[in-house]
Amino acid sequence: MNPPRVNADRLLRSMAAMSAIGATSKGGVHRLTLSDADREARNLLVAWLRETGLRVRIDTFGNIFGRLEGSDATAPIVLTGSHLDTQPFGGRFDGAYGVLAALEAVRCLAERPAYPRRSVEVVAWTNEEGSRFQPTLLGSGVYTGHLDATAMYGATDVSGCTFRDELARIGFLGEAPCRADPIHRYFELHIEQGPVLDREGIPIGIVTGLVGLEWFEATFRGQANHSGTTPMEGRRNALLGAAEVITAVDRIPSQLDAEYAVATVGHLRVEPNSINIVPGVVHLTLDVRATDTDNLRSAAVLAARAVQDAARRHHLGVDYRKVASSEPQVFDAGCIALVERAVEALDVPFRRMVSGAAHDANNLNRICPTSMIFVPSVGGISHNEAEYTSDKDLTLGAEVLLGVITLAAEEEAGR
Ligand code: GLV
Ligand code: MN
Ligand code: MN
Repeated sequence: MNPPRVNADRLLRSMAAMSAIGATSKGGVHRLTLSDADREARNLLVAWLRETGLRVRIDTFGNIFGRLEGSDATAPIVLTGSHLDTQPFGGRFDGAYGVLAALEAVRCLAERPAYPRRSVEVVAWTNEEGSRFQPTLLGSGVYTGHLDATAMYGATDVSGCTFRDELARIGFLGEAPCRADPIHRYFELHIEQGPVLDREGIPIGIVTGLVGLEWFEATFRGQANHSGTTPMEGRRNALLGAAEVITAVDRIPSQLDAEYAVATVGHLRVEPNSINIVPGVVHLTLDVRATDTDNLRSAAVLAARAVQDAARRHHLGVDYRKVASSEPQVFDAGCIALVERAVEALDVPFRRMVSGAAHDANNLNRICPTSMIFVPSVGGISHNEAEYTSDKDLTLGAEVLLGVITLAAEEEAGR
């Protein structure tokens, strides 16, 4: 196989134009799901997909698809993409890179004299991040039948706006059914978001599986009262309960015998949040992850225990609920082998690895052969404005993606 080449200038210009939407003063991007910035990013993508001559479709969850019709329009398609939404004050590369590299790869295919046998579709999934609306991986979750459409339309953000209303407000409540067509293979290219490739000086990660995660939301209810007049004994301080949970959650991974496990309290909302009021109500989130199901379950049990123990000790009421869950995934051996062939054709170092971040590939892996490709994140920094991947690595990753979709699009039905 000849090493495939992408148009690096065009890829990097597209990245720069997309990064300008929701750009922050510190070089990051703040483009929350279904915000005005998200609308602008989506409109730009749709314009590019149309310019490339792709058939564009928006589904009822705002997932955006652009299809390059293959010579055999009836064969299951090759699907590739990622997401355009970001974390609050997030980075330029998380998600957008996978969408724009997919676009670049399909732009290259569209310029070739002959189209591939299978149709190739670029996708931008709605609400991968899950920071404004939970759960995470929402658009791909409905598409793959893993999440309930009615319940997801009703998801609300902190100010009470529903997912469906916001989707309609930005003009992306599409008409195409949100369900999967027959898919031959799904590939997602992404920055690693961790330190491994950068530390080892390896430009390509071949991802063999994904960590599983469970997310919970806890609300402690105590008694808001005057901080000057309320004696220390007998207080019901909801923030003390939260403080205990934060440290208990941090200790969970060290209590497990896991190859890889992490646990985080990342969001806290204190009411009434005033210097001279004993905190009455605190909302907090818990995110536990592990690469194997047993340890994921154990982590969830320890998290629930930490919340109940804290409530009891501080005489607090507590509501506790699961807001997202995805099982650890092992990717398809055939997809992994194809990625390896594409990397070998480029003659660059690579390593196999498991992802600690969640990705829409998690949902796709339930319904079709799937795998991912990683490029290095400098310093392992992500979900941060300082997220950075070099132009060289971005270009190489897109070339691997072009190589692998070229191979997959010509495969026979039986593989
Ligand atoms: C998604 O970005 C996640 O890993 O939480
Ligand atoms: Mn991402
Ligand atoms: Mn992310």
